[in-house]
Amino acid sequence: MLRRLYHDQPESFAFTPDNQTWAEAQMKKFPEGRQASAIIPLLWRAQEQEGWLSRPAIEHVAAMLDLAYMRALEVASFYFMFQLQPVGSVAHIQVCGTLSCMICGAEDLIGVCQEKIADKPHTLSADGKFSWEEVECLGSCANAPMAQIGKDYYEDLTAARLGEIIDELAAGQVPVPGPQNGRFAAEPLKGLTSLKGYDSGKTKYNASAQLATDIGDTVKRIDGTEVPFLAPWVKTDQPAKPKVKKAAAPKPAAGKPADGTGVTKQQAVAKSKAKPTGKSNPNPDLEKEPETLSAPRDGGADDLKKISGVGPKLEGVLNDMGFWHFDQIAKWTSEEIAWVDSRLKFKGRIERDDWVSQAATLAKSV
Ligand code: FES
Repeated sequence: MLRRLYHDQPESFAFTPDNQTWAEAQMKKFPEGRQASAIIPLLWRAQEQEGWLSRPAIEHVAAMLDLAYMRALEVASFYFMFQLQPVGSVAHIQVCGTLSCMICGAEDLIGVCQEKIADKPHTLSADGKFSWEEVECLGSCANAPMAQIGKDYYEDLTAARLGEIIDELAAGQVPVPGPQNGRFAAEPLKGLTSLKGYDSGKTKYNASAQLATDIGDTVKRIDGTEVPFLAPWVKTDQPAKPKVKKAAAPKPAAGKPADGTGVTKQQAVAKSKAKPTGKSNPNPDLEKEPETLSAPRDGGADDLKKISGVGPKLEGVLNDMGFWHFDQIAKWTSEEIAWVDSRLKFKGRIERDDWVSQAATLAKSV
């Protein structure tokens, strides 16, 4: 299936304040310079908030992680769990169409979706409340046929029961998930044949259905206020402020000479930040400051974001350090790479993504 960005995109995206705090806490899980590893949880939270992933949402997450937009789009378009088009405002129904479910009646469930929602998958119902798709095995084969609705599994379904569930959701109710034929969990249809003494009835529903009922997320959009702050590595009274966020740098166009030397305020700040210290420059003998510029040349700055691994924020930091052009980066020696590396605080990134070779290639096309 071709997975493309939806033709009609919103103007912008922003996390809710609580989701923003949550997202920043996720980034703290990873070592400095490896924040990109948080790409999937952040994209997922964006989808939980909006129902689907718009282009601005993907770009927003990429910017937070200092990733090239294309890298984030690659992840969003690769995994089918990410919805690249709007879904129903009430629920998106994912019907399992793999073997066990198919031989137990999945086609009938799809027929219900076509009749009650839309003929084609990934299409909104006339009232915009529902959408559906067929998905691969969801790992609940012993309770086939089944469908995932929102976060929860509805199992042992019949066409009639799925129709009722859709009607109940449309009426603002949230049907109890789990087996819909009276089974407690995945025991034999005619009842237990072993472990009869096991008291499985401590809760009203099986563990999954009970938890789902207790939490009540099911088909809700998530704005970050629903659950406790599940990030024990970050104190709740001290919201996470990852360093990658602090690296935000003003755009070069904003720079105006701060004094008669022609040095802009931004450059002055960058210079003071770049001041060698024992911490950032542990082995000065192996570092050498590259040639820098106080401003881009007459033709304007090159788009350093074309270098894989350089996002908008990192581009700003490089500009502040005095690097505006591909040919500047293409000339870096290993000692100069070490000098820049220690100031970017993303150890190894320059060599890992081979910025120098990339810049040399890009310089030829300028
Ligand atoms: S085949 Fe449907 S859940 Fe496995």
